[in-house]
Amino acid sequence: MCGIVGYVGKGLAIPIVLDSLKRLEYRGYDSAGVAFCEGQSVFRERRAGKLIVLSEALKNRMISSGCAIGHTRWATHGAPNVYNAHPQNDTSSNIFVVHNGIIENFAELRDDLIDKGVVFSSQTDTEVIAQLLAIELLGKIHTYQNVVRAISTVIKKLRGSFALAILVKELDYIFAVKRSSPLIVGEKNGECFLASDIPAILPYTDKILHIKDDEIVVLCTGKIRVYDNNLKQRKLLFRKVNTKMQEIMLGSFESFMQKEIFEGAKATIDTVERLQHFDVCSQLDKTRFDGDFDLHIAACGTALHAGRIAKLLIEKYLRLPVDIDYASEFRYSYPILSDKSICIFISQSGETADTLASLDLAKSLGAYTIGITNVASSKLAGEVDVNIPTSAGVELAVASTKAYLAQLGAIYCLVVSIAKLLHKSLDLDINVLLEIVRQNGDMTYCRDWETLLPDLSELDSLFFVGRGVDYYLAMEGALKVKEISYIHCEAMPAGELKHGSLALITPQSYVVVLLTQAELMEKTINAIHEMQSRGAKIILITTKDVQIDVTHIIKLPAVPDAYSPFIAIRPMQELAYMLAKHNGYDPDKPRNLAKSVTVE
Ligand code: G6P
Repeated sequence: MCGIVGYVGKGLAIPIVLDSLKRLEYRGYDSAGVAFCEGQSVFRERRAGKLIVLSEALKNRMISSGCAIGHTRWATHGAPNVYNAHPQNDTSSNIFVVHNGIIENFAELRDDLIDKGVVFSSQTDTEVIAQLLAIELLGKIHTYQNVVRAISTVIKKLRGSFALAILVKELDYIFAVKRSSPLIVGEKNGECFLASDIPAILPYTDKILHIKDDEIVVLCTGKIRVYDNNLKQRKLLFRKVNTKMQEIMLGSFESFMQKEIFEGAKATIDTVERLQHFDVCSQLDKTRFDGDFDLHIAACGTALHAGRIAKLLIEKYLRLPVDIDYASEFRYSYPILSDKSICIFISQSGETADTLASLDLAKSLGAYTIGITNVASSKLAGEVDVNIPTSAGVELAVASTKAYLAQLGAIYCLVVSIAKLLHKSLDLDINVLLEIVRQNGDMTYCRDWETLLPDLSELDSLFFVGRGVDYYLAMEGALKVKEISYIHCEAMPAGELKHGSLALITPQSYVVVLLTQAELMEKTINAIHEMQSRGAKIILITTKDVQIDVTHIIKLPAVPDAYSPFIAIRPMQELAYMLAKHNGYDPDKPRNLAKSVTVE
């Protein structure tokens, strides 16, 4: 879940590496570090904390190096202190390694090395790699061929996931290799770049090459070589990326989260319009929908909340039962899967470890797999039987906003397509959806929250209540606020209040209630009364004309009930954002979290 970058060329490497790391901070920001070649030596700087701390430390240094690697960390092994910050090195400081991923057998490798007398200076799994490489290179001249061979030997000993960039003393080369963690290289006018993700290097080049598992890459000024696992050099086919610069720039926005909330309607429209051309129905394997089949959904975080709406739509409109679970539970819950199963995996990044592991499991049991992902080059997109792409553009804020709406758009298209495949008529119309989002998706509710912020920001707990689809929206609202404002939030199904959660309601409580479904109106209003009679202050978010006395009403456009999720999520995303800002927190980089969770 860390970000790695590298640069080698005629320019100054450090400013380029630091600038590229800025666009990878969404992957983690516990510490940051760089290593660079100067003369025959490799030097390192690293700091605990966000990238800005490292940038400040390097500000007045004149570093003329044209070859450097960099890292921004989300701690897995070892506390987020300077000793565990990357680059990690071997005892003799000949080899410096930055790593994204997790080495599962690091403890046994480390014990083995300790038995051989190696002294470790960090608690990281990454240091094991540097020490193993040092042993492989012991007594050998540092030529790039020797280093490539050493890397090839060492990675055979590693279990787990990794994308590594490596500097070796006396060589102006960057070596890189990956397994199950993303890694791209780019080139422009003899300058070579390396990164975990495209946005990192997009300002410098749009000529990108995706590295495959166990391939070893060697970058030097003017040349990139890629070796397969038999150490044969392969032909390089760079492709031009479509991502636009403005997608990764803040423009006039204060933060990426604010920008991405504003892009929610566009993300939905772009996704749905693209999928209309893509024709989801024609992409599905019709034979898998013949006779009996069972449906499953697995995802994490926000993607799971989108999945819950998928379950509801499929059960309500197609009358097919759907099993849904957190991907982290799905993989360990002995799911009953077979070649009659259809499994849907939803993931913005397409690289969430638990979602990928669930996909592997489903495939091994013969299931037909459908992905909904935003990153076309991701592992998930490449490995599912059919991938339904979302078109949210680059999402950089850790808390997902526009990707959720794009996922909902894709889900509606998928449900309509399955109905078509099964010759079922359906009360859902993609063109109506598009019209509703075009007309109402850009409405903002900042003013509604402004007056409430002083009270809400003081709360220890904030509750979100709804029924049916409104409960699933409440879950996503609670997650958003909790992630970036650090207020404890709990989503509660309205009907379950009296079975426990009502005990938490006091005259100090604020409850955000969602009400967008006519058939559930009376029941939800009853729940409001139950909470009000315990003193709770209610903020009602509704598409309905409700005659009820509450602390505050946020009136949404009166869209048909089936499409309310596209409209009702926005005020809660804005609430989360405004609370974080009000309390002085960085909405893009919530503490302890990262956007891509590539470890279990
Ligand atoms: C992390 C992110 C969330 C995201 C979840 C699943 O927790 O902070 O925003 O919803 O991972 O990520 P995915 O890329 O699989 O959708």
